[in-house]
Amino acid sequence: MPSTTDAPTDPAGAPVLGGTPVADPARLAASWLPGPDEEPMRMTLSTIDANGFPRARTLLLSEYDGDRFFFHTDARSRKVADLGADPRVALTILWPDASRQLVVQGTAMPASADECAEAYRRRSPYLQQLAWLNTAEYAQLPLAEREARWSRFREERAAPPQPPGWVGFGVRPHRMLFWAAHPDAASRRVEYVRTEDGWRRSYLPG
Ligand SMILES: Cc1cc2nc3c(=O)[nH]c(=O)nc-3n(C[C@H](O)[C@H](O)[C@H](O)COP(=O)(O)O)c2cc1C
Repeated sequence: MPSTTDAPTDPAGAPVLGGTPVADPARLAASWLPGPDEEPMRMTLSTIDANGFPRARTLLLSEYDGDRFFFHTDARSRKVADLGADPRVALTILWPDASRQLVVQGTAMPASADECAEAYRRRSPYLQQLAWLNTAEYAQLPLAEREARWSRFREERAAPPQPPGWVGFGVRPHRMLFWAAHPDAASRRVEYVRTEDGWRRSYLPG
């Protein structure tokens, strides 16, 4: 968890990390987000459905690699259908103590097979099993049958391999908005917009 609620700034107003003004939002995001061996954060992924409406749901942020925000899901899901038609997305990441929020707009691209395998390996046994049983057919069953199938699966397949329909996406941001609360000042946002030769930074109110 972050120890401060607002990044310190240099005289020109740039967020400062380790004494250096941050021109690149990747550094700021990496300093806010958990590393690969820490508990993954939750985020809201918003896609655009076939009627042009935003469609949002909570996902785990599997990893941020300094360039893309990765998530993993079922290939048969609505979100994957949405992304096939329009890869533009928004991600909203709220820190559990509400001290920080990071909002990203970007483009979701399929993750590599290696990246998916590594993310599946890092999932807990419960989530690995969930990846197998989270089907439309299973969802229709009464609770007793869902429990029976769940425990039967666990007995028969202690360490299930990655299921075929388990896919990943990496979101490459074109805009990143860092919101930080402050106990003694108004909250504010630092916005980074990708340009041809880097990032344009500006400060926005709450
Ligand atoms: C805390 C939390 C974490 C979740 N993490 C994931 C995830 O990492 N991947 C996933 O496919 N669904 C995850 N879900 C379920 C999704 O919110 C969603 O219901 C599901 O992916 C189907 O979404 P879709 O029909 O919009 O594609 C999570 C739900 C919650 C509440």
